[in-house]
Amino acid sequence: MSTRFFNLVEDGMQEVEQLMRLQVDAHHPDLHTVVEHLVSSGGKRVRPAVTLLTGRMFGADPQRLITLAASIEMLHTATLVHDDLIDGSLLRRGIPTVNAQWSPAASVLAGDYIFARAAKMAAQTDSVEVMQSFAEALATIVDGEITQMFTSRGISSRDNYYQRIYAKTASMFVLATKSAALISSCNEGIVETMRKFGYEIGMAFQIVDDILDFTGEQEAVGKPVASDLRQGLVTLPAIYYQEANPDDEDMKAVLNGEFADEARMERLVKAIRGSGAIQDAFVEARGYVERSLEFLGQMSESVEREALFELGNYIIDRQV
Ligand code: IPE
Ligand code: IPE
Ligand code: MG
Ligand code: MG
Repeated sequence: MSTRFFNLVEDGMQEVEQLMRLQVDAHHPDLHTVVEHLVSSGGKRVRPAVTLLTGRMFGADPQRLITLAASIEMLHTATLVHDDLIDGSLLRRGIPTVNAQWSPAASVLAGDYIFARAAKMAAQTDSVEVMQSFAEALATIVDGEITQMFTSRGISSRDNYYQRIYAKTASMFVLATKSAALISSCNEGIVETMRKFGYEIGMAFQIVDDILDFTGEQEAVGKPVASDLRQGLVTLPAIYYQEANPDDEDMKAVLNGEFADEARMERLVKAIRGSGAIQDAFVEARGYVERSLEFLGQMSESVEREALFELGNYIIDRQV
């Protein structure tokens, strides 16, 4: 990625990648291949970039920081392996998912293996507070996935939506910023301000992800589009659309659990794409970014702080 915030941590990111690859010490050759495949499949690496920038901003020990960033990206990778199995997704980062290639049981185990490696690295930061935050984030993510699975389908409610995106995405950005501040021995006030910063950018990141699910091209995004609505999951663009068009028959049908009709779905996705709902959602994402920058603005000036400011723009403008 050619944005400046990424350039600043490019050296550190290479070390993060290397450390992640070192975790691939599985005995079983298939497990070895799968984990290696995953670790080298790219991804935007936004979470480790945020971790590295935050830690450097506060003068964290470089090695501990690399370990923390690798641990968080591994945790993210593991949640994706399980998520793709749960969602039945066959494509991620432009390549077939683990579940597309392997049995469900083997995918569960591969995800567990990566979780275990992530937890080991979190422990290697030598911070009990980081370990606690790591476990907390994972519990929040799982709770969110279960809630979504059992109670969130067909619900067009903003409160429900905010809870979902906090659980699945913002919680991990909180882990990144808070843990990076923790290992830098920041005082409680700064840790708390950075937690809030992570929350706000995490929420913005997921809103934009949900917009891209409607507006993006599959080739660019690397995963099938409009996948949320097809599973009955109502995200912010659909919520805005529903609020502006309460009598839309297609929307009503989807909210009633009829999301299998492909012609209806295509019509609805097209309607949402062409409506003001996309812009409304962008305005809201910008609001989150602006709030995040207010928290960041309370930190002393540094090149890392500037890079994190730019990250805010990247989150809004990204196309993938
Ligand atoms: C995907 O995250 C899952 C979400 C929480 C939106 P990313 O969009 O950061 O995925 P990668 O790591 O770049 O593939
Ligand atoms: C994936 O959520 C993120 C986690 C479970 C941590 P989604 O199912 O909404 O995201 P994509 O569309 O597969 O990336
Ligand atoms: Mg998914
Ligand atoms: Mg999912």
